[in-house]
Amino acid sequence: MKALVLAGGRGTRLRPLTHTSAKQLVPVANKPVLFYGLEAIRDAGITSVGIVVGDTGPEISAAVGDGSRFGLEVTYIPQEAPLGLAHCVLIAREFLADEPFVMYLGDNFLVDGITDLVDAFRESAHDAQILLTKVDEPQFYGVAELGPDGAILRLEEKPENPRSDLAIVGVYTFSPAIHEAVRAITPSARGELEITDAITWLIDNGHRVHSHLVSGYWKDTGRLQDILECNRIVLETIEPDIRGSVDGLSTITGRVVISPGATVENSVIHGPAVIGAHTRVSDSRVGPFTSVGKGCVLEDAGVEYAIILDDCVISGVSELTHSLIGRNVEVTRTPGAPGTHQLMVGDHSKVRLRS
Ligand code: TTP
Repeated sequence: MKALVLAGGRGTRLRPLTHTSAKQLVPVANKPVLFYGLEAIRDAGITSVGIVVGDTGPEISAAVGDGSRFGLEVTYIPQEAPLGLAHCVLIAREFLADEPFVMYLGDNFLVDGITDLVDAFRESAHDAQILLTKVDEPQFYGVAELGPDGAILRLEEKPENPRSDLAIVGVYTFSPAIHEAVRAITPSARGELEITDAITWLIDNGHRVHSHLVSGYWKDTGRLQDILECNRIVLETIEPDIRGSVDGLSTITGRVVISPGATVENSVIHGPAVIGAHTRVSDSRVGPFTSVGKGCVLEDAGVEYAIILDDCVISGVSELTHSLIGRNVEVTRTPGAPGTHQLMVGDHSKVRLRS
């Protein structure tokens, strides 16, 4: 069995970060979200992985390499434009050959991994197996209607009147029958070859399409609130590990990782939280639910429920929360008139001030 990991796409919902980098590399507890997926694939006993990449291909391949550090053999499959999930299967035909495979959306996160799903598929004679989970607002998801035996009767993309509360999770397993399906369908109204159309084609043509319910936590990390929530969930499981230096005036509580070369002076780190290598935290309060990347400076700062990427400076700002801050960003107090704010932010940024 092989794996096909989708790591192209536009990432419009995570702009401006995705103007300059791949959304699959946004860190969760200081590790790219894509790496959790690759580890889940390896843990399911799969070694041959094709990664579909778009404009951010060089960044993805710089991070993942040949896959050997994960125990994987990685083949990169360039996609000329994000033409849909089924298009990814179409262009991966040669790599996939005639083997069954698991298709994994590179920005999806499953706490319990995919071993159960892959094992269930290996033991079955199904042509497709789709991972489903119960959600509160099915109208915002792809929704499945099931028969009594768990067979999929119908799939609908963001239905106005959902027939169930079972949303499609971004992990699928397919037999080679899917190749005929992706060739048979045509682009949807949004111009993409939709995997839901290909699966519907399988159902309509008498193939066995089955469902598998996710028991643990799942998130599509394509939106700000989801990636912050995912970060919170993962931080709650980290093992405390203090490698950097913490002075006697500082307090560390709960699950906290202080990476090598980091320094904490006269500060409170309220776990769960991760402080990246060579980051300096002074006169600050960090956490809970906060990941700070490498090489940052936090001075006289207060940050909670946030992800801060590498090489940022946060200085004199004490109420940062629910925030995702890209690389090399400065958030500092302005010397200008009281009650004013001074901003220089990139296109498609979001700044929320309360004053
Ligand atoms: P999506 O999150 O559905 O799409 P997107 O990346 O374009 O994001 P947005 O909606 O914010 O604009 O994609 C799911 C995953 O599949 C993601 O990791 C990107 C990847 N993908 C491809 O590799 N090729 C494609 O053609 C598409 C549509 C997605």
